Amino acid sequence: MKNPQPRTTEKPVAPFDYPIQHTIKLSKSIDPIPASFDEVITKRKSARTFSGINLGQLSNILWYTAKVKKTLLQDNGYILTHRGTPSAGARHPIDILIIDATLLDSNLPHYYNPIEHSLNRIDLPAQLVANFFEHVNVIVNTTNATILWFIAHPDRTATKYENPESLIWRDAGALINSIQLTCTALNVSCCPIGSLGEPYISDLFNHQSGVFGAGGVLIG
Ligand SMILES: Cc1cc2nc3c(=O)[nH]c(=O)nc-3n(C[C@H](O)[C@H](O)[C@H](O)COP(=O)(O)O)c2cc1C
Repeated sequence: MKNPQPRTTEKPVAPFDYPIQHTIKLSKSIDPIPASFDEVITKRKSARTFSGINLGQLSNILWYTAKVKKTLLQDNGYILTHRGTPSAGARHPIDILIIDATLLDSNLPHYYNPIEHSLNRIDLPAQLVANFFEHVNVIVNTTNATILWFIAHPDRTATKYENPESLIWRDAGALINSIQLTCTALNVSCCPIGSLGEPYISDLFNHQSGVFGAGGVLIG
């Protein structure tokens, strides 16, 4: 395995357009979390049964872990962002897709827009989504769970670093930990899933721009 190295010049990253059908604007989290850090770190564990969450709870979890708090524009036009979770070079190559037919009134995945703090239903082939859902359900029973799946866009990291692969895996691990700690603080169960979700995720996006599944979590 080779060490990642910053490149001396960066090529621009082509934008990735999700085929969005419908947007749900989430509200800002206003309630401070009452749990202490000591309580959260002591209580954290992976739980494999779920009770279901409401939109406010999902909004809070995304707010603390993935919402953009600050942006910086690089000279070459790339927008670096700071969020609750760290990312190598502030590139944030991982987007989060949410699947919960009960909560979101659709079997289709919703893309979390971390700048708008919104959920965006994406038009993907229903059968391919069902295949992915079944794949996750076999690993851990999804009853009353919300799926948060990580979609890696390797070009975002690869244009800045040579040998970028390990950075993307480490970003995925950072995201798992942030989400699980936040869930613990909010009394929500959370279980990481070891599968990457392949080949289902690559099939869903028709292998565009090298996008691939980088695992995910069940929460609820
Ligand atoms: C990257 C990663 C993948 C995991 N994959 C699964 C999984 O597929 N199924 C599962 O039941 N638990 C999974 N887990 C949860 C671990 O089994 C769990 O963290 C471990 O048993 C320790 O338990 P704890 O998290 O409650 O401390 C995963 C955890 C991590 C960090």
